[in-house]
Amino acid sequence: MKMLGFEKLLVNSPWSKKRGLTLAKKLLEFVEFEEKTDFMEIGCGNGEVSKYIAKTYMGTVTAIDIDTRQIDANILAATKLTNLKFMIADAVNLPFKDESFDVIISFGVLHHIDGWQKALAEINRVLKPGGYLVYAEVIYPESISSMDKMSRFSFGLEAIDIDEIQNFFDSNSFEKIHSLLEKSLVCQNYEAVYKKRLNIQSVIEL
Ligand SMILES: C[S@@+](CC[C@H](N)C(=O)[O-])C[C@H]1O[C@@H](n2cnc3c(N)ncnc32)[C@H](O)[C@@H]1O
Repeated sequence: MKMLGFEKLLVNSPWSKKRGLTLAKKLLEFVEFEEKTDFMEIGCGNGEVSKYIAKTYMGTVTAIDIDTRQIDANILAATKLTNLKFMIADAVNLPFKDESFDVIISFGVLHHIDGWQKALAEINRVLKPGGYLVYAEVIYPESISSMDKMSRFSFGLEAIDIDEIQNFFDSNSFEKIHSLLEKSLVCQNYEAVYKKRLNIQSVIEL
């Protein structure tokens, strides 16, 4: 779901850009990089994290968002970075081949997606074996999500079950490299780095 005007102001604020960069720098420390890395950021919003990655790492960055206006603004602001591509795309139906990316980043996106489980399945599909998911999410309980949906000014907050997330990664052979769950008054903030284990086929090909 696209963000409402108020949330967009917040997401595009200098505070939010700084917060995203600080988080990206911290979580990318857990990734063991190959010489050249293909990154993808889902729900890139203001594009700051993708721009930082494109300037800092060897490889390519594909940054997607469902919001046309965010993507248009990002394309204008990043014309000099030849290894960075912004695209309009939906996280639940990614326009990429299986096993396309070495590192996928997703910060604060799934709680905007009705049926976020499909987005997780898509992440699993397009991530290479041995690749990393660098992930952060706001976890709202069902009660807050229901209240939000009944409100006239709904932010489209979907409830996320942290155990369901963990079950997904366990049953799809992801190793948890790092995780942190912090509670606040109405929600929890979850950050994690997962590594997708190599499958037999990719070990044979190595
Ligand atoms: C709360 S913002 C977070 C933006 C950025 N990742 C950050 O941390 O500042 C959520 C972003 O996810 C995008 N989004 C929501 N649903 C999406 C979907 N189905 N596919 C792709 N992007 C989506 C929104 O347009 C928005 O830019």
